[in-house]
Amino acid sequence: MKTRDRLRIAMQKSGRLTEPALNLLNRCGLSFRQSRDKLFCFGEGEPVDLLLVRDDDIPGLIAQGVCDLGIVGRNVLNEFQLSQSGLDAEPLQELRPLGFGRCRLSIAVPNELDYQGPRQLEGRRIATSYPGLLGEWLRSHGVNAGVVTLAGSVEIAPKLGTADAICDLVQSGGTLVANQLREADILLESQAVLAGSLALPADERGDMLELLLKRLDGVIQVRESRLLLLQTSRAALEAVTRLLPGGPQPTLLPVLGQPDQLMLQALCAGEVSWRQLEEIKKAGAREMLVLPVEKMLA
Ligand code: PRP
Ligand code: ZN
Repeated sequence: MKTRDRLRIAMQKSGRLTEPALNLLNRCGLSFRQSRDKLFCFGEGEPVDLLLVRDDDIPGLIAQGVCDLGIVGRNVLNEFQLSQSGLDAEPLQELRPLGFGRCRLSIAVPNELDYQGPRQLEGRRIATSYPGLLGEWLRSHGVNAGVVTLAGSVEIAPKLGTADAICDLVQSGGTLVANQLREADILLESQAVLAGSLALPADERGDMLELLLKRLDGVIQVRESRLLLLQTSRAALEAVTRLLPGGPQPTLLPVLGQPDQLMLQALCAGEVSWRQLEEIKKAGAREMLVLPVEKMLA
């Protein structure tokens, strides 16, 4: 393989992962000369270029050494890994989960079918674009079913009579509802991941890759952090504190003119949901604020 001195990342040309992936790379300090309609985008600040391709082609491009990294759904990566097992090919690994593009690879059945579990698929035909993942799941449940491999439009197979059930990605669930199907079993929780080959480049590209991973970790950590501010009475403090999501010890501040009240400031490691806020409020908190964290330097 000819060596390169610039790192090359493959990502989806146009689709659900494109915008969030570019956004994430930008936040890692990478910017690209604008040629979004082209296959190749030259990186401006750092020696990192982009290749914009079909998502299903990404693992293969990494395995062939055309690209060093890829941003791709875990479903696509795992399906590729299964298709390669036993072959003498460069193995790929998931380097980081990226926290966007969350979806599930699920079994869906016609609304009228009363699904009781995997056994019920015995002898039936299941349409999918993920024959590897589906086959593995069926084997693990000891179920013999016909796998009908389709490149797309899997959801219409039951209506056409070419399959009895499907195994496809579900995000909002809208596609299933529109096709009178319902989600029956989950095979895989997926999201966008950074994929790379198991043997990472041992030249300048390796150094750049290490730097990129560090920046990525910082960006992901900050993106998921929230600063929670609230007021509470001293009497309710213990109950309120017990309900706080994980993070470092909170800070307490006095409230001017209200010696009985405290202001609490807590850095939370993940998102704070409405439900969590409502619980904390019930415990006695008020004036609650949840703020995004832009930068963090401990
Ligand atoms: C996936 C999947 C479904 C749809 C589900 O296709 O194949 O058709 O998304 O999403 P929903 O639950 O929000 O309706 P996608 O649009 O990712 O295109 P693909 O054919 O490239 O997989
Ligand atoms: Zn696709």
